[in-house]
Amino acid sequence: MSLHFTQATSTDLDAIVRLDSSAFEFPWSRADFEGSLKIGHSFLLLKDDETLLGVAVSMQIFDEAELLTIAVDPSYQGQGYGKLLLNELLARLARNGAQRLFLEVRVSNTRAHSLYLGAGFEEISRRKGYYPTRDGREDAIVMEKLLSI
Ligand SMILES: CC(C)(COP(=O)(O)OP(=O)(O)OC[C@H]1O[C@@H](n2cnc3c(N)ncnc32)[C@H](O)[C@@H]1OP(=O)(O)O)[C@@H](O)C(=O)NCCC(=O)NCCS
Repeated sequence: MSLHFTQATSTDLDAIVRLDSSAFEFPWSRADFEGSLKIGHSFLLLKDDETLLGVAVSMQIFDEAELLTIAVDPSYQGQGYGKLLLNELLARLARNGAQRLFLEVRVSNTRAHSLYLGAGFEEISRRKGYYPTRDGREDAIVMEKLLSI
């Protein structure tokens, strides 16, 4: 078992798309990930040897960053890997000069919401009907965390 963090390259795309599709009811498409990688978003991967455990995609503009998506492979959820990945991302963004990180989370996603509260994020607003659901729309909670080195 050798846990490590790496930045994704295009050779990781298949594994990322597979992981995301198994973790989300409304996953990103392969084209979404390809486009995101191409325009220079940061793809932080958590791997155990060559096995992909988790992925966090973020973008930074000057001192503000946004977490675009984060997921852990369902077979490995609930073992602390999400927290590990998020904490590593927070440290890397802070070292890279980011002063705040924003994210959006579905109101129904209590697991992710607890992860973010535990990491020190605070709710700053809501976006009404932001996400699709199987039978309508649901709100997004917008959260922010101030980063320091
Ligand atoms: C959200 C996600 C990334 C968390 O990763 P994980 O590896 O399962 O989480 P961890 O084991 O590191 O747990 C971190 C925190 O999440 C929360 N959590 C984990 N499992 C939980 C559960 N079953 N119920 C409620 N909260 C839970 C807890 O706050 C936990 O912290 P604690 O252990 O100090 O209590 C992961 O569950 C996932 O990929 N979910 C599907 C995709 C998704 O919803 N992404 C977020 C989009 S905004």
